[in-house]
Amino acid sequence: MKVLVTDTVSEAGVGLLRKEKDLRVEVRTGLTRDELLEAVADADGMLTRSGTPLDAEVLGAAKKLRAVARAGVGVDNIDLASASRRGIVVINAPTGNTLAATEHTMAMMLSLVRKVSQAWNSLSLGEWKRSRFMGMQLSGKRLLVIGLGRIGTQVALRCRAFGMEVSAYDPYISKEKADRAGAQLLDDLAGALSLADMVTLHVPLTAETRRLLDAPALRACKRGAFLVNCARGGLVDEEAVAEGVRSGLLSGAAFDVFDGEPVRADHPLLAQDLREKVILTPHIGANTEEAQSAVAVIAASNLAAALLGKPYEHA
Ligand code: NAD
Ligand code: MLT
Repeated sequence: MKVLVTDTVSEAGVGLLRKEKDLRVEVRTGLTRDELLEAVADADGMLTRSGTPLDAEVLGAAKKLRAVARAGVGVDNIDLASASRRGIVVINAPTGNTLAATEHTMAMMLSLVRKVSQAWNSLSLGEWKRSRFMGMQLSGKRLLVIGLGRIGTQVALRCRAFGMEVSAYDPYISKEKADRAGAQLLDDLAGALSLADMVTLHVPLTAETRRLLDAPALRACKRGAFLVNCARGGLVDEEAVAEGVRSGLLSGAAFDVFDGEPVRADHPLLAQDLREKVILTPHIGANTEEAQSAVAVIAASNLAAALLGKPYEHA
């Protein structure tokens, strides 16, 4: 059986597949769309990350495909309805990168309020401008976590340790769960936004959450709030965020994920006049050795189990 690997996935997982005598692993990253359509034609299984769009056309071209595994959490790059219709098993690795994404969120939050990237950029140009980089203290400020799941909970706990007041908006969890994360559960998004000094997103991208923070929702934010998105592009109207930062509605924004990746050079958040208030990273939230090894092992072993009819070993 051919297993096609189309994104960079840790050898810890790919190696597990190579050890299976009935599986032939083909690693082909950076494929054009035409190359992908050709490569999936005889694949029995696939191992990917978020860089491979498995839409209806690609799944339709994958006539032999029985299982696809995502070495990560989000399955928004996979057309789940089409996969179900074709009987293709979709596997993800939801727990492997929780702490990596949490720690990246903390890094983005701290860099944003203390202007770490901008200060380093200035110093590297030979400048020494201490008063230009005045920051905001997190302690005593109010954080709003949108989506109090695995990552949102870990972010909430860390922000509590930083002395923040934490609230959460998540219609699908109990008050008890929010209590355990030290967060006050609020049921009105606009009201919650109007109180928060820092907003961080940790929801999946679904039909319901697409543009959850659209222009009207952003207008509900407390003046001068900061916004962090290490969850998914598409959750936020990025043009409206750029305008919000420009107008002073938002003090700053830190994004790791974008609506359309890789980002275009003319992306609204890359505008020169926003450089002092915006920091962006290229979807590296899950990029730690530990997380990449963990998600690769979970995804690959469960993929092998699905293809070879063995018991699933990892949750
Ligand atoms: P999770 O499923 O554990 O948590 C998601 C939470 O969102 C759940 O509690 C759910 O109830 C809540 N939710 C769903 N719809 C909602 C809505 N309409 N409004 C408010 N809350 C809603 O997921 P997770 O593991 O915490 O991952 C969260 C997100 O982070 C996902 O989008 C995932 O793809 C992304 N992620 C990004 C990176 C990265 O590299 N930047 C790494 C890992 C995960
Ligand atoms: C995920 O959903 O797990 C992250 O976006 C990380 C990734 O795609 O590698």
